[in-house]
Parts: sequence; C-alpha cells; structure tokens
Amino acid sequence: MLKNFFTNPKIIIFLISLIFLNNLTTSSYSENWYTSSGNYHSTKYSIIDQINNKNVQNLKNIWTYENGFQPSKNEFFYNNQATPVFTGKNLIVTSLDKFLISLDPENGTERWRTKIDSPGPIARRGITFYDENIFVPTTDGVHVINEKNGKHNHDFGVNGIIGVKEKIISLVPPIINKNKIFIIYKSFITSHELPSGKLIWKKKLNGARVWSGVSFDETENTIIFVTSNLVDLLGDTNIENDYSNSLVLLDALSGKTKCKFKDTIHDHWDLDMVGNPIVKKSDNNTVVYGFSKTGNTFVVDVKTCELLNKDSINRLNVDSNSPIEGQTYSDYQIKVKNPFNLMEIGYGSKSYLDYIKNDKENLEYVKHRVRNSKFGSGYIPLSFDYDVIMLGLHGGPEWPGGTYDILNNQIIVPTNHYPWIIRSYYGCCVRDEISRTKRKTQEFLTSLKEIKGKIIYNNKCKSCHGKNKNGLYMSEIKGDKYIPSLNGISRLNKFASLKDSKSFNYSHKYSSKIKINNYELEDLRRYFINRDNYLYENKLLDKRADWQLLLDKYGNFASVPPYGKITSFSTITGKKKWQIPFGVKKLSETSRVEGDINFGGLLSTKGNITFATGTSDQKIYGYDSLTGKTLWEYKMKFAGSSPPMTYYYQGNQYIIVNSSGGKYYGYNNSNYGDKIYSFILK
Ligand code: HEC
Repeated sequence: MLKNFFTNPKIIIFLISLIFLNNLTTSSYSENWYTSSGNYHSTKYSIIDQINNKNVQNLKNIWTYENGFQPSKNEFFYNNQATPVFTGKNLIVTSLDKFLISLDPENGTERWRTKIDSPGPIARRGITFYDENIFVPTTDGVHVINEKNGKHNHDFGVNGIIGVKEKIISLVPPIINKNKIFIIYKSFITSHELPSGKLIWKKKLNGARVWSGVSFDETENTIIFVTSNLVDLLGDTNIENDYSNSLVLLDALSGKTKCKFKDTIHDHWDLDMVGNPIVKKSDNNTVVYGFSKTGNTFVVDVKTCELLNKDSINRLNVDSNSPIEGQTYSDYQIKVKNPFNLMEIGYGSKSYLDYIKNDKENLEYVKHRVRNSKFGSGYIPLSFDYDVIMLGLHGGPEWPGGTYDILNNQIIVPTNHYPWIIRSYYGCCVRDEISRTKRKTQEFLTSLKEIKGKIIYNNKCKSCHGKNKNGLYMSEIKGDKYIPSLNGISRLNKFASLKDSKSFNYSHKYSSKIKINNYELEDLRRYFINRDNYLYENKLLDKRADWQLLLDKYGNFASVPPYGKITSFSTITGKKKWQIPFGVKKLSETSRVEGDINFGGLLSTKGNITFATGTSDQKIYGYDSLTGKTLWEYKMKFAGSSPPMTYYYQGNQYIIVNSSGGKYYGYNNSNYGDKIYSFILK
C-alpha cells in the first residue's frame, strides 16, 4: 500500500507540486535585488524559479513604464544603463533627467519621484538599496533618499549627501556594509562612517579609472574592482604604483591594497579590464573572477590573494619598439587559457577578405581602407606612419560584465567582436598654450602667405582637411568618417600620396574627385615641407591618437560575423560549456547575420534561464542556461540598455529591463527613448 502511494503517478505529481508550491512562497524568494548587479557579489543571478526553461514561452509583457524624458542625441549620456533595484516593496528606477523614481512593482505606476540636484549624470551605472534608503552615486557624492517618501534622508551626511568635496563622478553603485559606505569615484575610492559620512580613508588610483563595476566580499572584508587604461592611447604609461588595467583587491578596513593583477601592460590601445568582478563562494574558499576586454579572465582567491589560474597564463612576446618618441611598450603581454578565453583581438583581414570575396567592389573598398595599416596580431605599437587594426576595444566583455549561474556552476558573458583602426597623427595649433601657439601660428602664416601651395591648399583641400589641417576622425557613436590630419605629414609615409596625381587619385579614390596635376602637387609639397619645418621646430605639433570603427562599403563591421557572442564557461573546469551568436544584425534590407553588437547584459535564474538584452534588434532573449538555446524572445521599442533584473511580488516573478536604445554606431541611432519593460508568466 505504502509502495503504491509512492509509485502512483498522480501522487508523485502531487508531491512534486507540493515541493514547488513551497518554493513559490514569498519567504523563499525574499532575497531582493538590492544593488544594480543584484548583490555585492555581482552574480546577476536569482534564486527565483517561477519562470523556467519549460514555461518561459508564456512570458508576456505586463506593463511598460515611460519616465517621460528623452535626452537630445548630442548628449554623451543618452541611454539608461542603471539596472533598477527592488526593495521588497518598491521598484526603484532612474531617468536621464536625474529623477529617482519609485514604482509599484505590480503595475509600474509611480509612487514618488525625486529630482537629484547634481551637476553631472546621476546613477550612471546603478544604485544601491540598504535599510530603507536608496544610495545614488553622482558627481557630488552619494545622495541618500528615503524609500518611504522619496526625500533626502537628513540623518545621513550633510543634508542627506555623503562624499568628498571634489566634483568627481561616481559611476557605479556604492557599497554599504554595516556602519560604513564605500564610494567608488572614477579616480579614487573612499570609505565613510554611517550615518555621519565622516571620511575614514581615501584610496587614489594614480590615473587609472573605475567605470564599470565593483564588488564586495563581506567575509574577507574586501572591495574588488577593475580599472581602465592610464592614458588617452598616447602618453606616459611609465608611472610608479600603477593601478591601470588591473583587478584590484582592497582591504575595506584600511583602504590598503591587498593585491592587484595586471592584464595589458603599457596599454596604448584602450584594453581596460571591465565589468563587475564576480565573487564565487564555496565551502572551502571565496574566489573572484575579473574580466578584461582582451578576453583574459583572472581567478583570484580573495582570502590569500593567490592567482588561481596562473598556470594557464601564457606569455606572449610582442614588439616593443615604438616608433613614437617617449612611448613605453612592453615586450610581452599575456594570454589566459583557462578560464576559456573570450576574445581574439588580432584582426584576421585574410579571413575577412575571403568572406567578402564574391563582392568585388566591397573587397576593393576594404583593401583600400586598410592599405596603410598593420594588423594580424594584438598589441602592435602605434605609429604616425601606419594605423593599427585590432578587435576588442568594445570588449570582449564590456561594462555589463557577466552572470554567475550558481545552479549550473557556470559564468556566462556577452562579448563584442568587430574591428577598430587606431590612427595616430599630429594635431596643430589648438591645444596647449593656446595664446603662444596662436601668435606663433599667425606669424608663420603671414610669412608663407604668398606661397602658391597655400593657395592651392585653400582652393582644393581645405574644404575637407580643414583650416588647421586637423582632418576629421568621427567617433564610434556616429560612424567611421575619416579625413587625415595633414600636420607634420611631409615627414611621414603618407606624404607619398602627394608624389604624383596617380598616387593622389588612388588615395582619394573613395573621397574626392578633385583634379590636381603634378605641378600643383609640387607646389603643395613645398608648402607642406616649409610649414612642417616650422611646426616641428617650434614644437607646435601635438601627438594625438583616435580609434575608429573599421566599416565596409555598406557601413557594416569589416570583419567576419558573429559580431557579438554569449559564452558560458564552467566555474569548475574553466572550460567552455556553450557559445552562441547573440542577437541578429541587419546588414541590408535583404540580409541578416547572427551575432550583433551588444551593450545590455545578462541575468541568470534558478529556473535555468539566462535573459539577455542589448543588441540592435531591440530584443530581450530568454536562453536555456544549459544549452544556450533560444527559448523566448521579445522585441522592444528600443534596444535594451542595461542587464535585466528580476523580483518576486504578490505571486509573480517579474523580469524587468531598461529599453532606452544603443549609444553607438550599429544601433539605429535615432531610435532611443525612456522605456522599462516588465514581463510575467500569463
Ligand atoms: C572631398 C574631400 C577631400 C578633399 C577635397 C581632399 N582630400 Fe585628402 N583625403 C580625404 C580623405 C577622406 C582621405 C582618406 C582616404 C582614406 O584613407 O580612405 C584623404 C587622404 C589624404 C592624404 C593621405 C593619403 C594616404 O595615403 O593616407 C593626403 C596626404 C591628402 N588626403 C592630401 C590632400 C590634399 C593635398 C588635398 C588637396 C589637393 C586633398 N587631400 C583634398 C578627403 C579629401
């Protein structure tokens, strides 16, 4: 009889559903999403499993919220990258016109909104909730807002604001632990007493910046973050006590560095370490994973500071001979094999040219576009005589980082894969010592006034290359338009294109139909030589470098797709579990490829679902966490713009995502807005 009871299928279903029901009580889901990356371990993982890989196709949009503000496209910060937080009672969101807003978690109606009066953007990459207050990072410290009424809580700091006097932005959510707050400013970190706000310590990062994430481990009382590069591509990377491109562990009590691990050495390419480091707790240790745009991941024991994957770090010998005076390059870099490397930064032009070989016109165009460049491997020293092409400047992994799917012992990370061209050049006569420069330039221009070359320049070249001859280097927000600077050019390789009209016509094949004969070119050359002699001798040239997207004839990324991927690796073996192209990119009206630019992020749940957003197809996807198979997708009005989050409220699991559009070229740049989508099972 008893045997029958346990083998009867109906009874089994009943028993299983009992287990499930028990699971669905609010108490077992009481863990809130209290900081934008979910928790201080930045797992972006939730134990709520009402939505799972069997029922996710029933997920429906239940409400959408519009905060009512669409910034102008010219503003640098024009999409919303702050994942909302859930307090147990309220869903707290932000708007780009600096409102902190409390929503009813069930229907998305506004309960209160408070303008945060601060000069820079507020809550750029998130906020933190702690004990009835919301902590909002800004340019003038952290504003403490009471959850109940949306008012500044004057029990904290000065008028509800904690921080130092310097107007330096804090981009990432602060960390609150017991009676202390840690504020992660862009260029330093501070610890303050709560509620007084009294400064305990301040840690300077000597030029390195923290812009993408921070984590905290309470057992070891350790603040963990990653840093940017040191310079604007060119500049002095040779400094003492360098924190750049590193995973850093700080003792929270003293602010002293426990240890730091450097990825790119003497970074002249912008290969920051990125995303929130992910903390993994197990019975025997606490481990942190730190990611880099290069695809390398460091795995560090938080207690002992031991680099656990040091045996899988290979030394790459690279060229350290910089043609540019005063620049230091390392003769080696590193490639991490385990955990699975997320990125290849060398640009494979051969495979790309092969990929487009049937499209002769495009092939010609791209060959022309890369004609003055070096590529093939990573870490090629920059030069004024050639450009450098590589992948990885938008990640590998980017600021949204990854998610740690605790149930399946895996870390899942979105990455970007498209090419960049780094152009170094001389700028003239506008930066540094402006008055002196202006005066000198003026003198020099009068002395050259009669020269024929200058007249030819003004008639035939100035309209594109500009009055100061600084050309145009379009940013990756707008596109890839490039007109070289002609300052200092007479001593550079590019001067060869003024040798004769044939060379001139070839270099201007896609840009100018202007007719110029060899006599005119001779005058022009003489003019440039004279002018440059003056500029070099009087030190009027300044060294600049810009990166630009490398696009093909149709404005698509000039590399083999997929342009975006999601990769899962095991936290036990470090090996790849699965890898999929992320999203779909429209190349033309008739063609699409899988794997797109992405700047959104991931959320994994105990329901075996990984939610992902941020591609130009404006979708949010639900993937099976075990296989990466797409189980659900939903097209939003604008591209997802920060990692999704989840909470459990009044019997339903909600999935929430910011939909405010993509900032960079590759998204439909006119398509951005102010929406938040909410989904539940229906
Ligand atoms: C209609 C716009 C336009 C005009 C007019 C124009 N250029 Fe250019 N020029 C460009 C662009 C765009 C490029 C870059 C082409 C490329 O590399 O794809 C360029 C490239 C160059 C280069 C570098 C060539 C190389 O191989 O890298 C030189 C030198 C140059 N131009 C000189 C001149 C001079 C001198 C004149 C006037 C006689 C002139 N240009 C007129 C747009 C223009």
